[in-house]
Amino acid sequence: MPEELSRREGSFRAFVAQRGPEGFSRGVQEVRGSDLEAAELLVEVRYCGLNYKDALASSAAGKVARVDRLIPGIDLAGTVLESSDPAFPPGTEVIGGGAGLGVSHHGGCAQLASLPSEWAVALPAGITAFEAMSLGTAGLTAAMCISAIEERGIGPESGTLVVSGATGGVGSIAVCLAAHRGYEVAAITSKPKASAWLESLGASVVLGKEQFSDIPPKALERERFAAAVDVVGGGVLASILAATRRRGVVTACGMAGGAEVPTTVFPFILRGVSLVGIDSAGLSRSERASLWSRLAGDLCPGNLAGITERIGLSQVEDVLERMLAGGSRGRVVVDLSL
Ligand SMILES: NC(=O)c1ccc[n+]([C@@H]2O[C@H](COP(=O)([O-])OP(=O)(O)OC[C@H]3O[C@@H](n4cnc5c(N)ncnc54)[C@H](OP(=O)(O)O)[C@@H]3O)[C@@H](O)[C@H]2O)c1
Repeated sequence: MPEELSRREGSFRAFVAQRGPEGFSRGVQEVRGSDLEAAELLVEVRYCGLNYKDALASSAAGKVARVDRLIPGIDLAGTVLESSDPAFPPGTEVIGGGAGLGVSHHGGCAQLASLPSEWAVALPAGITAFEAMSLGTAGLTAAMCISAIEERGIGPESGTLVVSGATGGVGSIAVCLAAHRGYEVAAITSKPKASAWLESLGASVVLGKEQFSDIPPKALERERFAAAVDVVGGGVLASILAATRRRGVVTACGMAGGAEVPTTVFPFILRGVSLVGIDSAGLSRSERASLWSRLAGDLCPGNLAGITERIGLSQVEDVLERMLAGGSRGRVVVDLSL
C-alpha cells in the first residue's frame, strides 16, 4: 500500500480545539487521517509557527474559529506526500498559509495536513523550513508593512520608524527587518525588562507602552516618527498617529491592545499622514510567493535564531495562553518531530 494511503487511513497527533454540548476543550489528540478535509495536497508537517490568531482560534471567546472542531495553525512548513496539482509533486517542500488555514479548515498544528494548493507556495531557495516558520505569517506581515511604507516614499533617511507590540512575533520581526534595512527603530513595549533584548535586535530606543495613553491628550503631538508598524491598535495607534510627522506612513496590522481607535482627523488633514491597512490573510498565492522570495532576499530580517523558541505539541496550550495574556517574546515554532 502506498505510504500516503496508509497515512490517510492511519492516525496522527494534533492539537485540537473543540466546542460541543459539554463546552469548550482543547489539547493534543490522535486524529484520523480520514478526518482531514479532501484537498489537492497532503503534507507531512515538519514545523508550525504559532501566531496570536492561533491563540484566538483556540480559545472559547476568540471568535476566530469558523468550525466547532478545529486543528489550529495558520502557518505550516512540510513536505508534500500526495498531490493532485502538478505544480507541487510529492517531495516538494512547501509553506502553507493564508485564507482559511487554521480558521475554517484544519491547520498546521499537526503531523499531517491536507490543504488546497492555492494556499501553498514552494519553500524559496535560501531559507530552511524551520526559518520559514520562524518568520511565518508574522514575517509576511512585517514585510508587508515595511514594503507598504517604502512604496509611499519613506526610507531610512526619512526618520525614525516606530514598532508597537515590539516583543511579539510581528513586532520583533519588524524591529529586526527595519534595523537590517538601516532605519533608526523605536520599539514600544509593555515589558521594560525586554529593553536589552529589543536593543540586541536593532532597536535604537525602547519606549514604555504607558507613554502611549489610551486616549491621546492632544490631537497632534510633537512630530517624532516618519513611519510606524502598529500591531497593538487602540490608544497606542491613536498616539502614534498624533506623533507622526508630515506625510508619514502608519501601517495598522493588529489589535492585540484593542479594536477601537480614539483618533481625530487632524493627523490626516493637517499633516497628510497615511494610515495603511495590512491584511496578510488576503494575499493571493502569487503575492505570497513573491513576498516569501523577498523575505529570503532583499527583505531578509537577518538572523532570527535569537528570537525563536522551539517547542513540542504538548507545550502548545501553555504558549497560546501566554500569547493571549500579552506575554509573547519573539516567535514560537512547533517541531512536530518532538
Ligand atoms: N493584519 C494581519 O495581516 C496580521 C497578521 C499577523 C498578526 N496580526 C495581528 O497582529 C497582532 C500581533 O500578532 P502576533 O502574532 O505578533 O502576536 P504576539 O506574538 O502574541 O505579540 C503581541 C504583542 O502585542 C503586545 N500587546 C500589547 N498589548 C497587548 C494586550 N493587551 N494583549 C496582548 N498583547 C499585547 C505585546 O507586546 P509588548 O509587550 O512588547 O507591548 C505582545 O507581545 C494581533 O492582533 C494579530 O491578530 C495581523
